[in-house]
Amino acid sequence: MLQKPRGTRDFLPDEMEARRAVEGRIREVARRWGYREVCTPEFEDLDLFTTRSGEGIIEEMYVFEDKGGRKLALRPEITAAVIRMFVNEARVAPKPLRWCYFADCFRYERPQKGRYRQFWQFGVELIGADTAVADAEIVSLAAEMLNATGVSYELKVGHLALMRNLLRGIEPAAQRRIMAHLDKKDFDGLDCTLDTMVKGDLAESLHALVSCRGLDDAFAIAGPVPGKERIEETLAMLDASGLAYSLNFGIARGLDYYTGMVFEGFAQNLGAENQILGGGAYRLAHLIGGDDVASCGFAIGFDRVMVSLGDPRPEKQAVVGVVCTEEGRGRALEVARAFRNAGVRTEMDLLGHGIGAQIARASKTAGFVVIIGSREAESGTVTLKNLGTGEQKTTDPASAIEEVLSDGPR
Ligand code: HAM
Repeated sequence: MLQKPRGTRDFLPDEMEARRAVEGRIREVARRWGYREVCTPEFEDLDLFTTRSGEGIIEEMYVFEDKGGRKLALRPEITAAVIRMFVNEARVAPKPLRWCYFADCFRYERPQKGRYRQFWQFGVELIGADTAVADAEIVSLAAEMLNATGVSYELKVGHLALMRNLLRGIEPAAQRRIMAHLDKKDFDGLDCTLDTMVKGDLAESLHALVSCRGLDDAFAIAGPVPGKERIEETLAMLDASGLAYSLNFGIARGLDYYTGMVFEGFAQNLGAENQILGGGAYRLAHLIGGDDVASCGFAIGFDRVMVSLGDPRPEKQAVVGVVCTEEGRGRALEVARAFRNAGVRTEMDLLGHGIGAQIARASKTAGFVVIIGSREAESGTVTLKNLGTGEQKTTDPASAIEEVLSDGPR
């Protein structure tokens, strides 16, 4: 028997309904904040992803050549693609642009619970607003979206300027190696790298910065940081809005394009793969042929949110099974149409079962059955049976629909 590819998942209807319900709640928050949906291709020119991050990232991607010999990659994330689209299609549009997306990404990673090769992100990008209030909007929006999902999480906010100030004077490739250790919280690896660079003294300051939770202490460790007032202003706005977060200047972010404020969200009930959100301020447009436009955004790891929320519980809805005899079928089809037009999920027997078997089958999903035999077909009535209470009555179709709708979801 053929199986799905490693690191991918199938979703049965209960799970899909639960996913769509959570997605819908996040979408509603995006709508209320003015973030409008965009969509980019599933695959892009490989260069889009290697331009900033280097060839090393190829290891972590699905890369292929098409029949025309073009080097392409399945998108490992959406930000670069959204900025590519902004440069191609909307560079002259009035700014700021508030965009959001819900889309699948592909990363060639070692699969485990919460880490997949195909996974979905709900993300937002705020393009063309280089201000503290823009940074604060993005962090606040992230929190509201996570709140809407019902997940329990912790939010950690930092800023790359402090770490970068400590690392100034170190060549960019080495800085990247150090940041990669910090991103993975691999402190032994960090010490080794610093030792080989004869920068052992830096280790103490980096460790102190990573564990520091106060802003003044962090500035004292990092030294004179450019843009200090902007950082203070952003955090003051977050404090004023009552947002629950902790400071963490050890956040390095795995992707290379971040330039300023960075933040991450962690689910409280997940194990190793507990990061459910990541984002920050970044600059990418100028690397893709556009102007140097400041942007800020984040992506929610939708699958991890679903793992954190637990077993799928699809939202309840009214379900009716329309049950009929051979003679009642024509009328039953009309009645089923009336129920569907009223918005009720309505299912009919397709296998030619007898009335008893049809009711038994319907009772697995439905709260009511509507029975139509020759008597009902002739009189234009239906027999409505409430499968919860066992109550049964003969009535007209409009009243039956009203009763099902007023009974509410089961
Ligand atoms: P990221 O931190 O690489 O950031 O990914 C965002 C989220 O996607 C992670 O926090 C995690 O929850 C989820 N995620 C990542 N890899 C996997 C995986 N293999 N399986 C399941 N979930 C995963 C970005 O992608 C940036 N583009 C976010 C951003 C938007 N920054 C600015 N704008």
